[in-house]
Amino acid sequence: MDSTQDRTQRYFDKNAAQFDSIYHDGQPLARAFNRMFRKAIYERFAITFGEAEPIAGKTVFDVGCGSGRYAVEFAKRGAARVVGLDYADGMLKLAGEYARANGVGDRCQFVTGDFTTFSLDEKFDVAIAIGVFDYQDKPVDFLKRMAAHCRGRIIATFPGHSFLRMRVRQLRYWFKDCPVLFYTEPEVRKIAADAGLTKVRIVKIASSGTGFVLVADV
Ligand SMILES: C[S@@+](CC[C@H](N)C(=O)[O-])C[C@H]1O[C@@H](n2cnc3c(N)ncnc32)[C@H](O)[C@@H]1O
Repeated sequence: MDSTQDRTQRYFDKNAAQFDSIYHDGQPLARAFNRMFRKAIYERFAITFGEAEPIAGKTVFDVGCGSGRYAVEFAKRGAARVVGLDYADGMLKLAGEYARANGVGDRCQFVTGDFTTFSLDEKFDVAIAIGVFDYQDKPVDFLKRMAAHCRGRIIATFPGHSFLRMRVRQLRYWFKDCPVLFYTEPEVRKIAADAGLTKVRIVKIASSGTGFVLVADV
């Protein structure tokens, strides 16, 4: 069987536009659905930018940047430079178009690579991984790699366990042959400790009822 990374890469490459639609105000029905069921997506967006400020003049590494919604927002808020890394080319194509459409193409760079093996010879003020630990079967190694690329703050989200939401999501991803993982708060704390991070806070994503944002200073 293909590895977790192969399956996740294939899934997001194929479903890039569908993923990005969670951020659009498209058709009225989709908009109503998103407002009702995707509150956690908007809440983690707000938490991330709240925790990253002040961002003007800083450098940002967006690991698993997807369609570039966070990267472009960082640039619009005044980040000096944003590097987005993803292994799904379908996502990176959208990210590049979105950055240019927002007039920040010169401060956003999008790079293809698998972060479980890929390194950049640079440390960033802020390193984020939003909606990415959902697909990592070696989360400690992944977080260690983030710490190695950061000289300031790490912000990363972790989906929590829940009776209904988790099972629906597991089923949906199972049909699409993409693995998905869930965490408890003690597990997130242990992952951070095992990755060598000591200055750690966990912010709960209230609207999901279960998800967490890890905020760690390195
Ligand atoms: C749910 S999407 C989130 C995208 C973006 N961070 C956001 O919140 O809008 C997860 C993204 O992480 C990428 N990804 C997952 N594991 C990765 C890895 N090991 N290396 C690079 N990209 C990865 C996927 O290709 C996908 O685009």
